Amino acid sequence: MNQTRQIGLSLGADHCWPACYEAIVQKLDLRLPLGGDTVDFAVERVRVEPFDLAQKSKYDLVLDRITHWFPTTREWVKKIAIDGTYVLNNPWMIQSAEKHTTYAAMLRLGFPIPKTVLLPPKEYPDEGDTQIAIRRYNKLFSLEKTGEAVGYPLFMKPYDGGAWRGVSKVDDPAALHKSYNESGKQVMHLQKAVDGWDLFVRAIGIGPQVNCIKYDPAAPLHGRYVVDFDFMDASGWRTMQRYARVINAFFNWDYNSCEALRANGTFHPIDFANACPDSQVTSLHYHFPWTVRSLVAWSLFAAYTKRKPRINPNWQPYFDIADTDLPFEEKLERYDVLAREYFDAERFDEFRATHLRHLDEVCVEFFRTDAAKQIVREKVAMLFPKHEVEEFTEHFYGLVQFWCKTESDRIGKIG
Ligand SMILES: Nc1ncnc2c1ncn2[C@@H]1O[C@H](COP(=O)(O)OP(=O)(O)O)[C@@H](O)[C@H]1O
Ligand SMILES: [Mg+2]
Repeated sequence: MNQTRQIGLSLGADHCWPACYEAIVQKLDLRLPLGGDTVDFAVERVRVEPFDLAQKSKYDLVLDRITHWFPTTREWVKKIAIDGTYVLNNPWMIQSAEKHTTYAAMLRLGFPIPKTVLLPPKEYPDEGDTQIAIRRYNKLFSLEKTGEAVGYPLFMKPYDGGAWRGVSKVDDPAALHKSYNESGKQVMHLQKAVDGWDLFVRAIGIGPQVNCIKYDPAAPLHGRYVVDFDFMDASGWRTMQRYARVINAFFNWDYNSCEALRANGTFHPIDFANACPDSQVTSLHYHFPWTVRSLVAWSLFAAYTKRKPRINPNWQPYFDIADTDLPFEEKLERYDVLAREYFDAERFDEFRATHLRHLDEVCVEFFRTDAAKQIVREKVAMLFPKHEVEEFTEHFYGLVQFWCKTESDRIGKIG
């Protein structure tokens, strides 16, 4: 008998990765054995429409990219997850685990996160009981003493940050007052700057797969992800892969990125609540095909195996390790054992090696086609002025071709 796994892509403005994802799944044309049956895969884009709360979902898996700002879809994916659809990422954990929670939890696990303090906001709305509550219970505090306790330079940034909104570097008390005055009603963190860092890494995690990319925050948007290969040693790779995998397993996120700064040989994570990470070819360029391929591999595995949605996080096993006297490196190794179990990593590797043997080659072939170039062009046209479209299409597609070259060399060596 034939079983079809229905995969839904729940999207907002994303254009390039879904188009490539759909083309690659189609090109793979899988018919996988399962017991005496055959499994194939159907992909479609989810439409937003009224839904009956008693209606069962037709999807086995939904790859969702809009929950963090679109309540209708958020509530829909929560409902279908309750019914058993595997939703990437867990919508509850996107809704509830702000950047602040991720700092607090990873500090509890011993991660070297810079000293961080949460500030009550500068201003409050004049509504309901707000003003009464503030007059009664908000304790007057010294902003300067708080800044001193954190230490300069520091960063002031929203507790629920994203996209560099409201982030400022603060070098002295005068700048601290200025930034606080400008922060208005936002709840802000003060975070000690990682001083003298010599490497900025973004680790992108998709299921158990993690790619570490050198990042340059001072470059223009399209050049921040750097194309570089030997920027850190094996132990740096291991550490950053573990950071990303552990954070993602802990928060039930299948697709998230972790930013860390290295100073004196230690990687300090500073931003790892990015559960809708930038996935556009115009940002990722060389690293874009890896991202699409990894999304294909992980989502097909989860759909094929009917992976159960992880609705509630299970934090105690991590806390039990945190409460031992082991050095952090050893704790991290043990957290990663839990994380790999959570992601069913061994079974995934086996699935990839048996059923997706040809995925690497199919991806290289696809990214070399005119169809892939046309997708890049369409994405570029959405972001760049008309007279720059051709130039930047060549630029980004050229970097994708460079990936095809390095990747086919790698496959050749393995093959
Ligand atoms: N503690 C820190 N030390 C050094 N640089 C920082 C620190 N926090 C933030 N930054 C800089 O500010 C940028 C934005 O901060 P981040 O926490 O990543 O906010 P967002 O969630 O908006 O991306 C970072 O990419 C980094 O360049
Ligand atoms: Mg960031």
